[in-house]
Parts: sequence; structure tokens; C-alpha cells
Amino acid sequence: MLKQKKIGILTSGGDAPGMNAAIRAVVRTATTNDAKVMGITHGYNGLISGNIQEMNSRSVSETIHRGGTILRTSRCPEMLTDDGCEKAANVYKVLGLDALIIIGGDGSIRAGLELSRRGVNVICIPATIDLDLSCTEYTIGFDTAVNTGMEAINKIRDTSTSHERCSVIEVMGRHAGYIALWCGIVGGAEDIMIPERESCNEASILEQIMENRAKGKRHNMIIVAEGVGRAAELAKRIESITGIETRVTILGYLQRGGSPTAVDRMHASVMGYKAIEIFLKEEQNKVIIYKNGIYDSIDIEEALVAKDNFDMKFYEILKTLAN
Ligand code: F6P
Repeated sequence: MLKQKKIGILTSGGDAPGMNAAIRAVVRTATTNDAKVMGITHGYNGLISGNIQEMNSRSVSETIHRGGTILRTSRCPEMLTDDGCEKAANVYKVLGLDALIIIGGDGSIRAGLELSRRGVNVICIPATIDLDLSCTEYTIGFDTAVNTGMEAINKIRDTSTSHERCSVIEVMGRHAGYIALWCGIVGGAEDIMIPERESCNEASILEQIMENRAKGKRHNMIIVAEGVGRAAELAKRIESITGIETRVTILGYLQRGGSPTAVDRMHASVMGYKAIEIFLKEEQNKVIIYKNGIYDSIDIEEALVAKDNFDMKFYEILKTLAN
């Protein structure tokens, strides 16, 4: 008789809306194919300390619409050390796992790469609100984060317009400006400050605000990516130089919570399904990606050397539409 396959699954790093939909897809696809699924709680910390429980189809009932992660998550500095990686790989072997499904962003996948070099078969599902993984055009959580940002911006716009003020809004994204770019375009901002534009020119922002007021605009909105930061200082300078009352709002963790959008549930469901599909085909050490409308998988080594493909054309579009 063939030995039943056994898979471990964890979520790691910052949580992202849609992680639960991905867990659900992995568990249900695996159990439908007679594989056993072991849920590891609290990310890599849980793997190292053996916080593990078997999951079945019912363990993921009523989760597709929930934000956060039912498996919990953590940042795990131990995985940056040889000792931590050895311990984690050892637990994997002691448990007799045939694969480890890692749902997370760049740091989580890098830790997965270290594990793959120690005999662990890792299959990664990209999930981060930041969209900062160059190997894929989509990471689970981004759409929900942008929608949450857009709704907050709509509300700030109402009050900003009533008072004829300027709003400076800081959004998340770590070192990447994707959330800021999208929130800027869909929220109708006049300008954005993002890490990808080295010359985030404050002087030109001030000039633009004055020009727009002269053209009859009665409020102004600037989006700042957290990777640039200093939103409060920028707001103070705008107010003191232009004389326009300016308020700052930092959206922060608001963008990481909430029920996932249809787009996030869809990507998460398909990526979770694909992860098990490639596992059953005995592929090893892969990252599930979405490119040119197609779901695929690539080697983890290749995934982590992919070059950033931030398209500055979108900034040009934002500036044109802000006129
Ligand atoms: O990676 C997701 C993210 O929310 C980033 O946008 C942000 O910089 C970071 O996580 C914050 O992480 P933590 O919650 O660990 O402080």
C-alpha cells in the first residue's frame, strides 16, 4: 500500500487578507486527494517549537470571508540564523512531512529557500499586501489593502473638501510603493511619494499644490508610501509654505485587516489549489506565481532573484490625471 502523503502548512510574516482562503484551498485540495494536512500555528516559531495539529475539511469551514489568518503568524528572527533553520528543518523531518506549504511574502519565502537547502520540500504561495515580489504580478492581500485604502481616502476627501484643506495620507507597503501608486490613482491624488522615485521632489509637490489652487481646486491630496515616511513633516511644511491648512492621516494596520475582496479570494483559492496540484506531480521547491493572466510555478531560487518590474508609466498617468 502507498504511504499517505503528509503536508505541513504555515502562514508567516505580516498577515494579508485572503490567507484564510489560501489555507482553505490547500486543506480541501489535499484532503480530497487523500493527503494529510498538518496546520502549523504562529509561522516559523510554531514549526521550531512544534505547534502542530492535523486539519481537515471542517477545520477551514466559515473562513473564506475572514481577514487575518486562522493559523496565526509571526515574524521569526530565528529563521535568519543557521541554528534556527536547522531546528526548523529537523522538526519537518521528525514529523515525516513530504512538503511544507509557506504562505507569506519575501522574508517568508527567503526562509523557505534556506529550508530547501536543508532537505525540506517547500511550496510557497505569495501573500503580502505590499505586492513587492518581483517573480509574480499578484500577491494575496494587495487588492483588499488598496480597496481599504481607497475607501478611507474617499472619506478623508469629503472632509478635506468641506474644509478646503490639504490631506497627506500615509499608506503601508514597506519598501515598495505599489499600494501608494494604486491608492494615488484610484483615490485621485495630486501626487505620491514612493521609494521607487529616487527624486521624490518635495519642491515640485508644493509648486503643484499652489498651481492647482490657482486653477480653482479647493482641496489637495498627497499620498506618501511608508517607505518614504515623514508624512507629518511634509504636512507641516506644506502648511507653513503654502498657508493651506493641512492634515495628516496614517492608515497603518487598517489596510492589513478586513474581509478579503473577490479578487483576493479568487487568487488565494486558485494558488492554494495549484500548490497541491504541483505537490502531487512531485515538483519540489517552487513558488506559485501569477503572470500574464496565467497561474504557474517557478523554482524558489529563480523566484528570489527576479528583478523589480515597477512600471513608472503609471506614475506618469497619475500625474496627467491629477491636472
Ligand atoms: O509586509 C506587510 C506590512 O504590513 C508592511 O506594509 C509593513 O511595513 C510591515 O508589514 C509592518 O510589519 P509589522 O506588523 O511586523 O510591524
